[in-house]
Amino acid sequence: MKKEIEKLLNDQVRYEANASMHYLAMASWADVHGFNGVSDFFYANSEEERVHMIKLVKFINERGGKAIVPALEAPKANFETLNELFEEFLSSEIYVTEKINEIIFECLSHKDYNTHNFMQWYVAEQLEEEAQARTMLDKLNIIGNDKTGHYMFDRDIMSFKATSEAQTPE
Ligand code: FEO
Repeated sequence: MKKEIEKLLNDQVRYEANASMHYLAMASWADVHGFNGVSDFFYANSEEERVHMIKLVKFINERGGKAIVPALEAPKANFETLNELFEEFLSSEIYVTEKINEIIFECLSHKDYNTHNFMQWYVAEQLEEEAQARTMLDKLNIIGNDKTGHYMFDRDIMSFKATSEAQTPE
């Protein structure tokens, strides 16, 4: 594996790990603010990001590189509103998508078609996660400051997640 690609993949390990910790902090915030559905949603997303990270670690090592387990930045722990939480979720996913696109670009310029092929799974994941974040933020923007709306959003969030996953092709 080319050193440039190995470095980008190791950077991606760090972004996925940071996303996992970021979503864990969001889950914890929701947990203590009585939003149990939102909390379950972010606990699950935190776990998914951890899986994304481990998949990269294994790929780097299998291809003759050396995966680096990164030091992590402390995630933001406090949020004012559910909207803020989901705005952060969407920005985090957009950031990760940009980083994945950079890897894809470098894979093509170095003719590393194996890594390019491997990264297609991440491209599909990002499409799903960004769409999910946008849908949820749209719903929250419709709800505004209505407490009953927030209660219902929290109650139904896991079913939105299941529906959007069922609609996304593998
Ligand atoms: Fe694995 Fe959604 O970043």
